[in-house]
Amino acid sequence: MILGGLFLFISCADKQDLHQVSERNISFSDGWSFYLGDSLKAAQSKDWRKLDLPHDWSIEGAFSQDNPADLGGGYLPGGMGWYKKSFKTESTNKQLFIQFDGVYMDSDVWINGHFLGNRPNGYITFEYELTPFLNPEGETNEILVKANNSNQPNSRWYSGSGIYRNVWLKSLDKLHVASWGTYITTPEVSQESAKVALEIKVANQYKESKTATITTTILHGGRAVTSNTSEVTINQNENKNISQNLTVEKPKLWSVDQPTLYTAVTDIKVDGAVVDIYKTTFGIRSFQFDLEKGFILNGEQVKIKGVCMHHDLGPLGAAINYRAIERQLQIMKEMGVNGIRTAHNPPTPELLDLCDQMGFIVMDESFDMWNNTKTEHDYATVWKEWHKKDLEDFITRDRNHPSIFMWSVGNEIQEQWNEQGVATAKELKAIVQSLDTTRPITVAMNPPVNMPNADVTTQFDVEKASLNPLAASGVLDLIGYNYAHNTFPYHQQNFPNKPFIATETTSGLQTRGYYDVKSDTIKRWPVRWDIPFDGGNPGNTVSAYDQVSTPWGSTHEETWKIMKKYDFLSGLYIWTGFDYIGEPTPYVWPSRSSYFGIVDLAGFPKDVYYMYQSEWTDKDVLHIFPHWNYTEGDSVDIWAYFNHADEVELFVNGTSKGVKKKEGDDLHVMWRVPFEAGTLKAVSRKDGQVVLEKEIKTAGEPATVKLTADRTSISADGKDLSFITVDVVDAEGNFVPTAQNQLNFSIEGEGAIVGVANGDPTNHESFKGTSHKALNGKCLMVVQATKKEGEIKINVSSDGLKDASILVTTKK
Ligand code: GAL
Repeated sequence: MILGGLFLFISCADKQDLHQVSERNISFSDGWSFYLGDSLKAAQSKDWRKLDLPHDWSIEGAFSQDNPADLGGGYLPGGMGWYKKSFKTESTNKQLFIQFDGVYMDSDVWINGHFLGNRPNGYITFEYELTPFLNPEGETNEILVKANNSNQPNSRWYSGSGIYRNVWLKSLDKLHVASWGTYITTPEVSQESAKVALEIKVANQYKESKTATITTTILHGGRAVTSNTSEVTINQNENKNISQNLTVEKPKLWSVDQPTLYTAVTDIKVDGAVVDIYKTTFGIRSFQFDLEKGFILNGEQVKIKGVCMHHDLGPLGAAINYRAIERQLQIMKEMGVNGIRTAHNPPTPELLDLCDQMGFIVMDESFDMWNNTKTEHDYATVWKEWHKKDLEDFITRDRNHPSIFMWSVGNEIQEQWNEQGVATAKELKAIVQSLDTTRPITVAMNPPVNMPNADVTTQFDVEKASLNPLAASGVLDLIGYNYAHNTFPYHQQNFPNKPFIATETTSGLQTRGYYDVKSDTIKRWPVRWDIPFDGGNPGNTVSAYDQVSTPWGSTHEETWKIMKKYDFLSGLYIWTGFDYIGEPTPYVWPSRSSYFGIVDLAGFPKDVYYMYQSEWTDKDVLHIFPHWNYTEGDSVDIWAYFNHADEVELFVNGTSKGVKKKEGDDLHVMWRVPFEAGTLKAVSRKDGQVVLEKEIKTAGEPATVKLTADRTSISADGKDLSFITVDVVDAEGNFVPTAQNQLNFSIEGEGAIVGVANGDPTNHESFKGTSHKALNGKCLMVVQATKKEGEIKINVSSDGLKDASILVTTKK
């Protein structure tokens, strides 16, 4: 509160949330105006739309093959967008900064007509100082931002467009901790005590030197644990680095199961008055990547069970929302995931905060390309000018996060195959190490050996191995490569002195709720990555039995069977946790989003989710699928994923169809049974005792919908979300697994519908609409609270079905 309200005044029209002023970062995301168009010359005042950030204009657009983002961008529009916002200051005696967590892309920023800068990278966090250009106190200032996403294609996946992350103001004394100005490491960690080394960069923008008392207090659970004080003199216009060493006795270590966090609160005092307070969240943990034992965290072997994630949030597009990210991570955690790879770009800071809090092992990744482009207008076009600054800013911003355990400085970089790539990797490594020496550096390479890409079943010939120059160079601390699971067992022969991480695996393909008749054939779609695919299933669907993958990848079971066998394999990051918009491999239009997710775009798990849950969690699992709505006499393959049991018995209408046990390295069991309407039931047993039972009934015609909110009470803060699952059910309440009904949504009270999705990669209805088809019985509606406390009533209707509604309350 010390700084509260002293210096900054935002006009009431902007409805600034003043309670945030006690924090150093003041939210500046609300109350902007937006205009979509190439030039401001034509813009009339009525063309500007009022909105709150984060905002993604692409997600509001229509799918079209004419959109230049093409399949990579999910056939959604790009273009040029403008944002402006006015504010006033009370006193110009402070230094004022504006921070953008990310603008896609190629942003230009002005204040009061003064150009502040251009930033091509659409994922990087950056800031500008506003002080010299502010109007006198009490007068209006205007920030103008141009986001240019017109040069397309520039991405292999959906990027979104606009100021799609948060914006912050910082109003600081002329003596302050520089932005991202602390660096915390824990060089010695034991159960008994931990040494905490802190470097603090203090900026003095006064015209004279200042003598300051700098105190850092480490807090845990709100209580001071230890502190350290330094007296320093900082010359005018100097950025001074100050080191402080502290010891935490009996530290609570950060782990994936107990992600304990500490906060270092650094305050700067001049003549007894506090002029700045800077908080750094950190964790205490030790780790290494071991040649024999893989990943060791706090002395214990932990297999990394990770997923790769692109940044879109399904129907919300790229516009970040804290609760939406938290929900994604909760769904992953429930499956047993303990690792996240930020494919292939700097993530939003909120994701890393959540990974710190929830216990994920993060591979933080900076680039998808270096000097050579992958799409015509991508980051490679500005690589020479920007990569150093972007990488420095990325590491400096992220290096205090305890959840980050490795830096990936690239994904499938084309130069890995030549000496230029080795030179670039050396340069990038030096940049990273100048800022952080505590984490290994890797690149998600293409398979570094002569693995025939088109046929993953070919046994890898270790005699003929030829390593790519980057892998062979020894520059990387950690050998990371994508796919080629059959080469994993040979890692120690290929790289005797380097630990291994499978940076990307699998690329399995599935549409939730569709099943091929025969599940025991494995298909590789497309046949090769460089040859157009003309096969596949009607309606661009892919069977959700784990039986289809890209040829460079594998089914989920194929890779996991190898990964779990060898201790020296630290772990894997599966492509991908969630479906994402764009890259609809193996298909093209009308498909517009990916099939790779273990969970679909709406957040509904595909069946293979439960294979992982049975392997990766302590929960008792028994999952049977597909469903029990076929035509009399059809032959149906029933799979069961299960754990904590020796066997599963299947019954159709009370008649046993046999007991199955997993043999060898099996991860599921299967029965082939003729369909007979009624009840399918599975019973898992351990030592003859029932562990779990599961039943699926043949559903009748759709009669109504069942609505389930993930949370029925949410915050009235204008941001919080309730995710409402709409299940089509029959008159008895049985889920109808084949229903594709058109659903209409309406809402009353203190909320708005901000997204709808059903997980169908071919659906062209708007994510922002109020009507959407169900996909195989399910649809999702995302409801956002207003800032007023109250009730939200959500209604769903559909031709021929009985209406249904649900209430969500919102509280301050
Ligand atoms: C990888 C690539 C990912 C994604 C994936 C699809 O090669 O790193 O970004 O394109 O293939 O299988």
